[in-house]
Amino acid sequence: MPRPILATIHLEALKHNLVNVRRYISANLSLHETAPSIWAVIKANAYGHGIENAVLAFAQADGLAMLDFDEAARCRAVGWCKPLLMLEGFFQAADLHEVERLTLTPVVHRFDQIQWLGQHMFFQPIDVYLKSNTGMQRLGFVAADYALAFKQLQALQAAGKVRHITHMTHFACADEPDGTNLPLREFDNVTSHLPGGESICNSAASLRHCSLAKRLRPRAEGTPNWVRPGICLYGSSPFSDLTAASFSLKPTLTLSAEVIAIQQVKQGLGVGYGHRFIAPRDMRIGIVSCGYADGYPRHAPDFTPVGVQGQLTDLVGRVSMDMLTIDLTDLPSVQVGTPVVLWGQNGPSVDTVAQQAGTIGYELLCAVAPRVKHQVSHV
Ligand SMILES: Cc1ncc(COP(=O)(O)O)c(C=O)c1O
Repeated sequence: MPRPILATIHLEALKHNLVNVRRYISANLSLHETAPSIWAVIKANAYGHGIENAVLAFAQADGLAMLDFDEAARCRAVGWCKPLLMLEGFFQAADLHEVERLTLTPVVHRFDQIQWLGQHMFFQPIDVYLKSNTGMQRLGFVAADYALAFKQLQALQAAGKVRHITHMTHFACADEPDGTNLPLREFDNVTSHLPGGESICNSAASLRHCSLAKRLRPRAEGTPNWVRPGICLYGSSPFSDLTAASFSLKPTLTLSAEVIAIQQVKQGLGVGYGHRFIAPRDMRIGIVSCGYADGYPRHAPDFTPVGVQGQLTDLVGRVSMDMLTIDLTDLPSVQVGTPVVLWGQNGPSVDTVAQQAGTIGYELLCAVAPRVKHQVSHV
C-alpha cells in the first residue's frame, strides 16, 4: 500500500472558479465597457495543480499564461489551440523558433529581445505584449524607454514580423484598496496615446478593482481588455483581509493524509521535536502521515487547524519531515486509518494554514511535493 497521503485536484471547482471570475469581471457592463477576455495563469505547473488538469478545467478561458516553454508545449500536446502568453517572454534569440512553432505570444520587456525579433526570419508575424514597469521594478520598460520600445516594435510590424502589440503591466500592490492608483496613472501616461489593447489585471485587480478589467482603451478599436487571474482560479484569495469564500471561490486542491498511530500523552509531557508543545492535560495525540517534505509548512504553529471527520482540530507540536501531530482528545472515534484534511475540501482553507504559518496560499499550493500522489476528482 502506498504511504497514505494524497493531493486531490478538483476539476469542477477549477471550472467553477473560472466561471465565477468571468461573471465577476463582466457584471454590470455599461455601454462603454466590453466583456474582458481571460488569460488563465497556469505558471508553476498551474500553481501545483498540473498543466494537463488546468488545460482541461480552463477550456473556456480565452488563453493560458505561463513562463516555461515546456509547459507551453504540454498545452499544445494536449490540444490547446487558443493563445498562450509567455509572461517572461523569451530568454535567448533561439527561443523564437519555439515561439513560432508553438504560436506563442511573448512578453517583450528588454531592448535586446526587440533586436532578436528583428533578426529572426518569421514565416508569420507574431503577437507580442509590451510590458511597462509601473512600479513593481521587476520586468518592463520604464516610462522614459517605453515609447522607443513601442516605436521599434511598430517598425517590426511594418516589416511583417509582429502583428498585434498589446500594452501590459503588472501591479505590485493591487491587493490594497488604493494600490492601483499610481501605477495606473503611470501606465496611462505612457500608453494612452498609443494604439493597441491592454492587459493589466491579476486576480487582486480583477476582483477588487473590476472597473479596470472592463475598461476599453480609446485607441484599441474594440479590443477587449485581457485580464490575467491566477491565484483566485485556484480557490485562494489574493487578499489578507478577504477570504476566497467571500468571492464564492471553491478550494481546488485538497491535501489529505491519515492517522497512522495514536499516543496517549500524560499531562506535562512534550510532543515532537524540541517538545515545543507540552500537554496541558492528559491527551490523545494522532500521528498523521504528512510532513514538511510533503509540502506542509514546517513553521505552522500549535493550534493551526486540520480537518478530521468534518470537524476542525489542532496541530500540536513541531511539524517533522514526514509526520505531524494533532489533538484527538475530544475525538474518541478517530482511529488509525481515519483520513485527515490538511487543507482543502472538508478542512481548513489553504489560506488559513498559510496565514498561520506566515506565508501565502500561493506558496503552499506550489510546494506540494512531487512524492505526494496526485489524483483528479471530477466532483
Ligand atoms: C505578469 C503576471 N500576471 C498575472 C499573474 C497572476 O497573478 P495572481 O496569481 O496574483 O492572480 C502573475 C503572477 O504572479 C504575473 O506574474
